[in-house]
Amino acid sequence: MPANASKSPAHADLESILVSEQAIKRRLKKLGAEIKAVYGDEEITVVSIINGAILFTADLLREIPNPVRLDCIRISSYRNSTKSHGKPQLLHSLSLDIANRHVLLIDDILDTGKTLSMVVGLIAKQSPASVKVCVLLDKKGRREVPFEADFVGFGIPDKFVVGYGLDFAERYRNLPCIGVLKPQLQNPPEWA
Ligand code: IMP
Ligand code: MG
Repeated sequence: MPANASKSPAHADLESILVSEQAIKRRLKKLGAEIKAVYGDEEITVVSIINGAILFTADLLREIPNPVRLDCIRISSYRNSTKSHGKPQLLHSLSLDIANRHVLLIDDILDTGKTLSMVVGLIAKQSPASVKVCVLLDKKGRREVPFEADFVGFGIPDKFVVGYGLDFAERYRNLPCIGVLKPQLQNPPEWA
């Protein structure tokens, strides 16, 4: 479907739609079932990496029947650019005690692997019963540190994507689908 076929003006900034709203809904139902199959009836402490994972977490949690505790962690990996600026920074840490708990870490996208390997390291220090990672998107070809997620929504090619929580300079998070941002809109001087 052409990216500008929808009514939303933000769609006009997309070169193409990579994952439709319907495909996301269908995949989340299956992901919920995969997660339930691994955890059985155990309680899960979900740790969502905000802001990017907000929409994914909100929808996925409603597909997980287990008892769930929810906490959020804030990391900055990117500023107003499509390129990582090096080391991820912890901006806001956990509020819940995760010792002896089954932690499911949720992020929007696994790219170089730096963010998730850093966060898993931080969580592991707090003696959880287990740590697993669920990402909506996986750009496998871009890894700079070895890292594999336990649950993956969609594998995608090396393109800068926005929508469904993913942003460029804090914009486009509210798009219901995931699309490739037009190259001429990436890194404009006024946002740099
Ligand atoms: P990593 O540390 O390189 O794996 O980067 C993970 C973070 O980079 C994600 O949580 C996103 O915030 C951001 N990111 C990576 N690729 C994209 C993209 O294509 N669009 C939007 N954000 C991205
Ligand atoms: Mg992020």
